[in-house]
Amino acid sequence: MPLCPMRQMLDEARKSGYGVGAYNVNNMEQIQAIVQAARETLSPLIIQASKGALEYTNLIYLKHLMAAAVEDNPDLPIVLHLDHGPNLKLCKEAIALGFTSVMIDGSIDYDKKTPDGKHPARSFEDNLRATKEVVDYAHARGVSVEGELGTLGGIEEDTHADKVLLTDPNQVEEFCKRTGVDALALAIGTSHGAYKFKHEPVLAMDLISECRKRVADTAFVMHGSSSVPQELIAEVNKYGGKMPGAMGVPIKSIQEAVKRGIQKINVDTDGRLVVTAAIRKVFVEKPGEFDPRKYLGPAREALAALIASKMRDFGTAGHAKDYKPKTLDEMKKFYTKKK
Ligand code: G3H
Ligand code: 13P
Ligand code: ZN
Repeated sequence: MPLCPMRQMLDEARKSGYGVGAYNVNNMEQIQAIVQAARETLSPLIIQASKGALEYTNLIYLKHLMAAAVEDNPDLPIVLHLDHGPNLKLCKEAIALGFTSVMIDGSIDYDKKTPDGKHPARSFEDNLRATKEVVDYAHARGVSVEGELGTLGGIEEDTHADKVLLTDPNQVEEFCKRTGVDALALAIGTSHGAYKFKHEPVLAMDLISECRKRVADTAFVMHGSSSVPQELIAEVNKYGGKMPGAMGVPIKSIQEAVKRGIQKINVDTDGRLVVTAAIRKVFVEKPGEFDPRKYLGPAREALAALIASKMRDFGTAGHAKDYKPKTLDEMKKFYTKKK
């Protein structure tokens, strides 16, 4: 089975009413664990890499690790996606590496810095322009594009996020129409990392329904979707970690978000937590152990089990054989017709 375009994978998910997890990877063990979970649960799969992941792996290593995952799993539809692409340049590099999907995070200008060292938010028109140039480049090559409207953060007062800008549903239809994005990240109050909320999780669920009412055929994406399971935090802390007050998005809220119109669910932090817990456990229980396979191996197993349970919870499980992935040439024709 060739690599799958993200547009097709998320169209299928939207029509059948389930979510597809997009899991961040940085090394071989993470990639192996995630495809193992997809194999065991018969799930379509989005593997995603951030700018940081591409730098960490010097691009070429990640390219070949991902290619190995695809070669090793010819029966699985797999999307290779660039997460939070900062500009056209990196999107082009990812496409040249063989990614079938890129995100252009046009809500923030990563190429500029304010005097306090932060990246400024982009205006609607500037976001639209930055996104459209990526869509034009990517669609000409059959590659799917995810954009973002709004910025991530908590909607509670006093969260760690310094700037919160929930997606404005009034802008969604115009943004989708004028850019032609295949998927759009909605800011509904989630944030990246392990400390998403101080008290109860508060998410703008109605905002998803409102956006779905206005746009029928663009996939919606929920970033910052790690659940930060408390048993994992307890395990990390038990074996010498220090993560008080970590809190994430409950699985029930993710399932509700999927019902209301989300198709792509971004998860990185939970994977980091489960790997950290497993490695810490080996280090504490077997202080004499120094063979990396003896702690990376259990970490890989624990990650595979966690991702498999997410695939079941998101409704992805069992859908790997529902369709035959389209080629990028077929997608090129699809986009030309749409124009
Ligand atoms: O979007 C954030 C992801 O968790 C990627 O994180 O930039 O540290 O690789 P990273
Ligand atoms: P988490 O930090 O909640 O895992 O979110 C990851 C993410 O949104 C990657 O784009
Ligand atoms: Zn994200």
